[in-house]
Amino acid sequence: MNENNVESILHEERLFPPSAEFSTKARIPNRAALDSLIQVANKDYVGFWAKQARAELSWHQPFEITLDSTNAPYYQWFNDGELNVSFNCLDRHLKDKGDKIAIIFEGESGDRTTLTYQQLHQRVCRFANVLKAQGITQGDRVVIYLPMVPEAVIAMQACARIGAIHSVVFGGFSAESLKDRIEDTEAKFLITADGGYRGGRIIALKAAADRALKSGCKSIQGVIVLRRTGHSISMITERDLWWHEAETGISSHCDPVWLNAEHPLFLLYTSGSTGKPKGIQHASAGYLLGTITTMKWVFDIRDEDIFWCTADIGWVTGHSYVTYGPLAVGATIVIYEGAPTFPDSGRFWKICQDHGVTVFYTAPTAIRALMKAGDNIPAAYNLSQLRLLGTVGEPINPEAWMWYHRVIGGGHCPIVDTWWQTETGVHMIAPIPGVTTAKPGSCTFPLPGIDIAVVNAQGQPITAPDQGGYLVITKPWPSMIRTIWQDKQRYYDTYWRKFDGKYYLSGDSARRDEEGYFWIMGRTDDILNVAGHRLGTMEIESALLAHPKVAEAAVIGRPDDIKGEAILAYVTLKETCSIGDKALIIELRDWVADQIGAIAKPDEIRFVDNLPKTRSGKIMRRLLRSISRGETITQDTSTLESETILTQLQEKN
Ligand code: PRX
Repeated sequence: MNENNVESILHEERLFPPSAEFSTKARIPNRAALDSLIQVANKDYVGFWAKQARAELSWHQPFEITLDSTNAPYYQWFNDGELNVSFNCLDRHLKDKGDKIAIIFEGESGDRTTLTYQQLHQRVCRFANVLKAQGITQGDRVVIYLPMVPEAVIAMQACARIGAIHSVVFGGFSAESLKDRIEDTEAKFLITADGGYRGGRIIALKAAADRALKSGCKSIQGVIVLRRTGHSISMITERDLWWHEAETGISSHCDPVWLNAEHPLFLLYTSGSTGKPKGIQHASAGYLLGTITTMKWVFDIRDEDIFWCTADIGWVTGHSYVTYGPLAVGATIVIYEGAPTFPDSGRFWKICQDHGVTVFYTAPTAIRALMKAGDNIPAAYNLSQLRLLGTVGEPINPEAWMWYHRVIGGGHCPIVDTWWQTETGVHMIAPIPGVTTAKPGSCTFPLPGIDIAVVNAQGQPITAPDQGGYLVITKPWPSMIRTIWQDKQRYYDTYWRKFDGKYYLSGDSARRDEEGYFWIMGRTDDILNVAGHRLGTMEIESALLAHPKVAEAAVIGRPDDIKGEAILAYVTLKETCSIGDKALIIELRDWVADQIGAIAKPDEIRFVDNLPKTRSGKIMRRLLRSISRGETITQDTSTLESETILTQLQEKN
């Protein structure tokens, strides 16, 4: 971003206060209750977090020092305390909730199993003993490359129990990505499966793991293989071990290892816009605390809830809101293995109906894809148990928000639009569902104890409403990234250098409206500069998405002699529309001009069948920029959902 602020052109005036029915029963039921939390946090945020940590976590050795800033920005939280994350997620519930269902699992082909807290505890302990028997001890790295099955949670919890540091690699990643991550972590063990089911096919995980290990990964001493599909795979004697065989005769008693609060819990790789993926390192106690407080404040979790976060464990969302947060509060979760569209676009809604899901959390990309399939599909299912909906991963365009609210939530469920990042560990900006009046497309306000600002290039707060700038976090928080694995310098350079260690730089641009609501405008790298006006991608895309024929849109700037940058929009259409329709191009350009003003009118619109996305559903705009400029692609495309999209787009050029 250059010196100027980003202009906002989107105006959303619809307001959605929570219903009295929701608020009365909510954990934070009214403004006064929320304000009292916020006031305490504002007065003394360190004391606030100390109090939360004492109330929410079970400590083996209580902490005295809450925040150690000696080596800022390498902050440490609760560092003289000791606990175990798996103990906090399992053991402490056994007395009162041993028979409560922890996990409801549904495989893609319809197979179902459940695990109570007691059963889950036993399985985690047994598998932790398997890891110990293989010589894995505290501090060792273990890479997990599994489908979305209960064993993925079991493997993560087992690592946490013995102090091994897990690094989960999404099952859709290639052998090459797996290899890079194994090598960077220098993992001792790999846990994988023969395969998993997705979209009616078997994902051959073991075969990919074999390819990864063949060409390097010298640190790996052994591979544990879960039998999921039962199809034939090759096992290498000496190196590979079946999960079920390794468990034979192994005890299900395993005392947790008491660990320092700052002991690394996991590494999770995110791909930056340049260079190799970064191993984001999270600590134990502070991270777990953040998952618990947000489960309570944002998801308003209750004992009787059936909580379903659709994210794969390969993403931070699957760490915080599948494996750790819900279990730490003793909730019942749903895990689904397969694709949202298998065998048809009703699958998510069928699962919600069949398992009585009450709190549902997914990504805007999934919402848009399911919305494209039409209202009659969700209408075929009983979604009346739902009481709260959430989204994460990208800005949700108001149109998709409205559909989610009306069609899925039946008009009565609050929607929590949660802004956060792999690096922040847990939600940072999100509505408190029983209190906050929502505005479609806004993630609303920072959570208690979290200080966030929008600043200009000099780091001064932007006070005028609707002026976009850098979104920064101005105080440390317990669940924050601790460092980048093996690269302290890159941690500083990426997140702190811009504002001299004073603020954490999120890399997003945002604005606040006249009522202080936060609106994410896109990544700062994606900002367009059109005739001296600096525009975020989100607002133009939202305007396009509000057109009844548009399914998806990605906006980028392409060099233009006169305007500096011209606006180029890649658009996918809803199923019934024809792609060669020239009149529609004119209609869409005028539509955007009408909706948000002539300055944002796209100079060019290209219809495409698909947009390039990461496997977690984010549009890769920088790739579109390179393609539109006819450049050779030098970026890391290993996280791209489908390589064939590239060829398709290049042909359109
Ligand atoms: O650009 C923001 C976008 O996703 C980025 C973080 O991505 P990742 O580390 O993969 O974590 C995704 C799950 C937390 C952010 O920098 N993003 C995430 N949530 C939102 C969002 N943008 C707008 N609104 C959101 N609710």
